[in-house]
Amino acid sequence: MMHVTTTIAEFRAARAALTGSLGLVPTMGFLHEGHLSLVRRARAENAFVAATIFVNPTQFGPSEDLARYPRDLPRDLALLQREGVDLVFAPTVAEMYPPGFSVSIDVGPVATPLEGAARPGHFRGVATVVCKLFNITAPQRAYFGQKDAQQTLVIRRMTTDLNLPVEIVICPTIREPDGLAMSSRNVYLQPEERRAATVLVRALREAQARFAAGERRGDMLRAAMHAVLNAEPLARPEYVSVADLTDLHELDQVTSGALASLAVRIGTTRLIDNCILDDDHHSQEVAR
Ligand code: PAF
Repeated sequence: MMHVTTTIAEFRAARAALTGSLGLVPTMGFLHEGHLSLVRRARAENAFVAATIFVNPTQFGPSEDLARYPRDLPRDLALLQREGVDLVFAPTVAEMYPPGFSVSIDVGPVATPLEGAARPGHFRGVATVVCKLFNITAPQRAYFGQKDAQQTLVIRRMTTDLNLPVEIVICPTIREPDGLAMSSRNVYLQPEERRAATVLVRALREAQARFAAGERRGDMLRAAMHAVLNAEPLARPEYVSVADLTDLHELDQVTSGALASLAVRIGTTRLIDNCILDDDHHSQEVAR
């Protein structure tokens, strides 16, 4: 039986009764196949699996989509139960951020460009809540999706620098049949926008194809992605990047293992996607 908890005390009591490794899948709910792939990996690698469902207000900017972020707790719990999750932590905002709460974690340079520049304060909110969730749930391993590439770097940095005893496991991006990366935010897309949203993966595929064909100039790869985006009338690019995967500095000369990433607005919906460039033309990252 899956045990659903909403308070820290209740979760800790249930956690204390488990002997054996715990795999944690932190989520903001409205689960899709991407989340479930993390749960399955955690299930395979640990004696027990916990999932958290918490739409964390501190990682949303004042003009972002916190109020309309999709929520469906009963559906999420049914999905988690089906995947054999043992423990769920679904706290209220007051449980996580009681009056007087004031500590936050600033991860430094890796949190500054790309999403960090577009969404000031976002990674402070992410690092802080993930640290709290690690402290509350005490997992041996925690599972995150490659779709949020910069988030994975931020969480790794935080975990290393604060000596948190958690192994961070990054799992591949799960895509719709037409290539669109799964995201809870895809639900915002109107039918025309949904069709246009494949422009992100199309731009990444273009960069990957050019890289595999020998293009090594960062400018040219970024320009090739922009050209794909510019051909889609509903797309408004926010950034296009080909960066070093460890520190995210933009590359002039690109080598295998670089991170191609982009953020694009389709109507009012902001989408992100990425792939790791490699020499193999049939890269798994954005494979057709
Ligand atoms: O990736 C997410 O869903 C969130 O950023 C996370 C890691 C659950 C923190 O709120």
